[in-house]
Amino acid sequence: MSRRVVDSGDNLRTQPTHPPASAPNETETKLKAMTDLPPVTLRPLPSETISDIRGQLRGTVALVGGGPGDPGLISYRGYQYVGAADAILIDHLAPDLSSIIPADCDVIDVAKLPYRKSVAQEKINSMLVERAEAGQFVVRLKGGDPFIFGRGLEEQEYCEDHHVSVTVVPGITSPIAVPETAGVSVTQRGVTHDFTVVSGHVPPGHPKSLVNWDALGHMRGTICIIMGVKNGGAIAQALMDAGRDPETPAFVTQEGTTSNEKSIATTLASLGQVLENVDPPAVIVIGDVAVPRPHAE
Ligand SMILES: C[S@@+](CC[C@H](N)C(=O)[O-])C[C@H]1O[C@@H](n2cnc3c(N)ncnc32)[C@H](O)[C@@H]1O
Repeated sequence: MSRRVVDSGDNLRTQPTHPPASAPNETETKLKAMTDLPPVTLRPLPSETISDIRGQLRGTVALVGGGPGDPGLISYRGYQYVGAADAILIDHLAPDLSSIIPADCDVIDVAKLPYRKSVAQEKINSMLVERAEAGQFVVRLKGGDPFIFGRGLEEQEYCEDHHVSVTVVPGITSPIAVPETAGVSVTQRGVTHDFTVVSGHVPPGHPKSLVNWDALGHMRGTICIIMGVKNGGAIAQALMDAGRDPETPAFVTQEGTTSNEKSIATTLASLGQVLENVDPPAVIVIGDVAVPRPHAE
């Protein structure tokens, strides 16, 4: 059956779909639940499909992006690979896909490995290779996209250096999807022509910082910050010091796309204060687009 495609007339519109709205209430610092994605339940794969996939991919690793948290936001290929894995190594921000994991699959929660920070990455790498060499189809399930601040490349290179083939399954990445589902589009026609995704895990001025905060402060586009709850106040100050208007809208979403999602609209000047009431994981959006659509509130 063919599908009829109707021109939506988008190319005729000259105005942004929603104009930057009213100034946020600067006195508010508490996050509020704003949107809910309707829940989905993923069904296990039929046993023949599991056998087919295991047959094709035995002895290999798949690096799978699980999306930002809602199980329904994994790709179809990711769903099939998780649903057919012999072994899965799962990160703490990966979605809960327990409804589709085969009963005979070994599930290793690598977020719970001891000495995670210093030792676990090598341990994870070696587990991937050992299990693949033992003939298993191994899935490495990560939150968001495996290559966006996810160490996917390191794991891929380690496996390939050890002659283990890797299939990469991209995931929906949180710095774009989390604000989007909470009511903020990181680009908007007529408002911004650029967006930048930045890790805030190292504060401005830190010797290990690789971010030119001064340059970002001079830009007018959207800045999406992940891993920035702790350093968000210092980041906001660096952006203002570089010339970004203190009244620039800012939008924070904690645990986006999950049933615990909460968001708040604020300004660059108030961001540090707001973040005192925020727990990771959270995405911070700074820029003229960072005002939620009225019906998302
Ligand atoms: C180590 S990074 C991994 C990012 C991931 N690979 C991605 O593509 O989304 C983890 C950070 O992503 C952001 N993050 C991931 N999932 C999130 C969610 N559901 N809600 C808000 N922020 C999230 C947070 O800033 C968190 O600290």
